[in-house]
Amino acid sequence: MGAIVAVILLVSLLAARRVTAPLAGFAAAAERLSVDGQADPLPEEGPRELRAATRAFNRMQARLARFVADRTQMLAAIGHDLRTPITRLRLRAELVDDPEMQRRMLSDLDEMEAMISATLAFARDDAQREPRGRFDLADLLQSLCDDRVDAGHRALYDGPAHAVAEGRTVALRRALANLMDNAIKYGGGFTVRLETGPDGSQHRNALIHIDDDGPGIPEAEFEKVFAPFYRLERSRSRDTGGVGLGLSTARSIIRGHGGDVTLANRAEGGLRATVTLPL
Ligand SMILES: Nc1ncnc2c1ncn2[C@@H]1O[C@H](COP(=O)(O)OP(=O)(O)OP(=O)(O)O)[C@@H](O)[C@H]1O
Ligand SMILES: [Mg+2]
Repeated sequence: MGAIVAVILLVSLLAARRVTAPLAGFAAAAERLSVDGQADPLPEEGPRELRAATRAFNRMQARLARFVADRTQMLAAIGHDLRTPITRLRLRAELVDDPEMQRRMLSDLDEMEAMISATLAFARDDAQREPRGRFDLADLLQSLCDDRVDAGHRALYDGPAHAVAEGRTVALRRALANLMDNAIKYGGGFTVRLETGPDGSQHRNALIHIDDDGPGIPEAEFEKVFAPFYRLERSRSRDTGGVGLGLSTARSIIRGHGGDVTLANRAEGGLRATVTLPL
């Protein structure tokens, strides 16, 4: 009896393992897809039902990737095609007699061209998706600060000397640079603080705070400033340059890494932009 029970136990354990091991791989792949839309398709293995689920999952992933690519392509096409009518308008504006009216028309056309260039740059960078790799996040933040100090701005790094992370360095660099440049443009300088969770835990996050001493942003505008081309009224009138793509680009890149950006007004005054990034 003992021997039979032992054999039955062993066989059922093996059978259960055969089913659950690929399931664990399946769950890991779903998690990976949420962070990286370009992850490799899953190998179709295991019991029949799981193979069917894997196939459906791979198809869904391929469709999502194609959908995103199509949208980006469309954005690029619209941006590109708008250039011709703008050039025509510019020629016509040259024929306007009223000099004040002409100046305003040309300045509007300049603004439209800047928006289109920024849109095209966004579409282009998104299209050439760089591969993910390991890099030192602390190094990246320090070098971003150094560049800004060299340009004569106040930029302070506070955090560990090293923090290994994974992702697309060029894109992340641009996202963080956008947040820092906002802090400089609207807040006169910043301190960036990096915190990482305890080593060895499974879901470690990096927390990056970028604090400035500027006027902050009214709480009702927190979501709106992430919309493409949205700028607060005072930034338009102060003529700080920029088209209003900085925050939306930053958020799209950071969300593409499974993280997020949030804004808060600091009690001491100024804005705090917080980036969470899974390590
Ligand atoms: N640190 C900040 N302090 C105060 N206001 C800010 C700050 N960062 C952003 N804003 C406001 O949010 C708006 C949107 O920022 P975003 O970076 O998207 O665009 P931009 O800086 O105007 O232009 P771009 O980044 O494309 O050059 C800004 O115009 C500004 O009004
Ligand atoms: Mg900006």
